[in-house]
Amino acid sequence: MTSSETEQTDEQNATPTPGTDGLTDSADDWSADQSTDDRTIIEARDLDVYYGDEQALQSVDVAIPEKRVTAMIGPSGCGKSTFLRSINRMNDLIDAARVEGELLFDGKNVYDDDVDPVALRRKIGMVFQSPNPFPKSIYDNVAYGLEVQGKTDDVDEKVHRALERAALLDEVEDQLDESGLELSGGQQQRLCIARAIAPDPEVLLMDEPASALDPVATSQIEDLIEELAEDYTVVIVTHNMQQAARISDRTAVFLTGGELVEFDDTTKIFENPESQRVEDYITGKFG
Ligand SMILES: Nc1ncnc2c1ncn2[C@@H]1O[C@H](COP(=O)(O)OP(=O)(O)OP(=O)(O)O)[C@@H](O)[C@H]1O
Ligand SMILES: [Mg+2]
Repeated sequence: MTSSETEQTDEQNATPTPGTDGLTDSADDWSADQSTDDRTIIEARDLDVYYGDEQALQSVDVAIPEKRVTAMIGPSGCGKSTFLRSINRMNDLIDAARVEGELLFDGKNVYDDDVDPVALRRKIGMVFQSPNPFPKSIYDNVAYGLEVQGKTDDVDEKVHRALERAALLDEVEDQLDESGLELSGGQQQRLCIARAIAPDPEVLLMDEPASALDPVATSQIEDLIEELAEDYTVVIVTHNMQQAARISDRTAVFLTGGELVEFDDTTKIFENPESQRVEDYITGKFG
């Protein structure tokens, strides 16, 4: 088990609690639709993250476009999960973690004192490496996220829609009352995606969502991610470079020391990167 697997326990047990609709009382128009092509939705400015004395991310600057798939790649321990968790403040749940610099979501620094992390996580959902359905029915797994947020209107319709968007409805329509734990690994991961999108977030963070799955289930998740990017911004960490090349529009390459070395269109990163270190990593000379 890797350190990142053990540290998931806290995250996976983190249950959302009711929050406000915006992140703050005064954030009513926060998610006003300003969509244009490649509008930036998430931006890190000089972001440092430390665990105690150890620095895990160093001066990360990056602008992530809305409704695109952005992949984060790099060798083990380079800070990919740390970066992902800094976006929706999941690092808050790790006592030793400390964040410096800015992480803007829709132009607002999520580390400002007036931001409610629970409300933030409603807008920025997360899917983890190992599928982690609750020991509840398929239906209740998806309804859960709506109920804790007090979204009790049209639950039935929203559950069905989320399962449909997660490309799972056809397979489970007749067994919604059965346990989510009885599904296959790939189905469980799609159930977790349905649970994450049911409250209608804007961003979906995925930390190696297919690494525990077989090739068929992996390919279904990849297809799904590309479809989801029509409606959501997807930020995905993957160890699989072919996967990053297949499904992402942009790729960020982190290298040892927590440095974001290059961020660009995925084709550029894989065909003609600026940095020799990135080229060496991509071509398998190290990492
Ligand atoms: N909860 C934690 N407490 C202390 N140090 C941590 C914690 N989580 C991560 N680290 C350290 O921060 C650095 C970055 O870890 P992180 O898990 O973000 O890397 P990663 O790129 O996601 O690695 P992997 O590919 O193995 O998942 C590593 O040195 C790691 O040991
Ligand atoms: Mg990781």
